[in-house]
Amino acid sequence: MNTTGIEFKDVEKTFLREDGSRQVILDRVSFTITAGKTTVIAGGSGQGKSVTLKLILGLMRPDGGKILVAGDDVTGVRGKKLKELRTRFGVLFQGSALFDSMTVFDNVALPLRERTTKSESEIKKQVLASLDQLELLGHENKYPAQLSGGMKKRAGLARALQLQPEIMLFDEPTTGLDPVMTQEIYHLFARTQEQVGYTAIIVSHDIPKVFNLADQVIIINNGIMDVFPSPEAIQWSRKPHIREFVKTTMGEIYQSHLVEQ
Ligand SMILES: Nc1ncnc2c1ncn2[C@@H]1O[C@H](COP(=O)(O)OP(=O)(O)OP(=O)(O)O)[C@@H](O)[C@H]1O
Ligand SMILES: [Mg+2]
Repeated sequence: MNTTGIEFKDVEKTFLREDGSRQVILDRVSFTITAGKTTVIAGGSGQGKSVTLKLILGLMRPDGGKILVAGDDVTGVRGKKLKELRTRFGVLFQGSALFDSMTVFDNVALPLRERTTKSESEIKKQVLASLDQLELLGHENKYPAQLSGGMKKRAGLARALQLQPEIMLFDEPTTGLDPVMTQEIYHLFARTQEQVGYTAIIVSHDIPKVFNLADQVIIINNGIMDVFPSPEAIQWSRKPHIREFVKTTMGEIYQSHLVEQ
């Protein structure tokens, strides 16, 4: 069983604006991301969702507090240890970040060639199995420019999964996709997580669609994070900004529950 959860303890992150004033992104924030479950992080643009993911990956450092991955404080980790830490993560950012000059096969094989001592025949077997699983078999010799948006995401996901990550981070993984493809990608995430068992963190604007996947939802607003044990729990909040969030993003579906209350 996957036991790699993440814990934020009083994490602070502040940026200095050009005029010298301080922009507080995370104001002593504490929360737990449960191992093997899916946590959705939602919130307005510029509230700090991507910054939160960068803190988890060690791409940014907090100004205070602790970030624990599987119980280990990763806040001060550098060098070799940081590299090791990163191999525990799979990451899928907006643009899929495939290398344009490499075929789908080579893109997906890259982490195996760089980080493992597997032979080319072992790599071939593993990569083709992944491509099969993500319905990309037959496209392995294409270049990213020859793929549709959804295929690029799937190829990005295939690459992110090669080192069997304990944690997958998704930053707006469906940007630029139509609603049908968006739905398909989320189904795929659900299926893949079931098979692989990773801890998932999804930053997304696809509310309420992405909530079908969520075991837990975190809403970030003005440096504060509100943690909800299920998407349904959000609607019971008394906080004005959460009620506003429910009204604007979840609309009729959830409003009906409010009436029942
Ligand atoms: N390296 C940086 N230096 C200074 N300010 C930064 C830096 N990175 C992010 N910020 C600021 O921190 C805030 C949060 O940024 P972040 O990228 O986390 O937003 P977000 O919630 O992901 O928004 P979006 O939904 O638009 O992607 C923004 O105001 C941004 O300008
Ligand atoms: Mg962002």
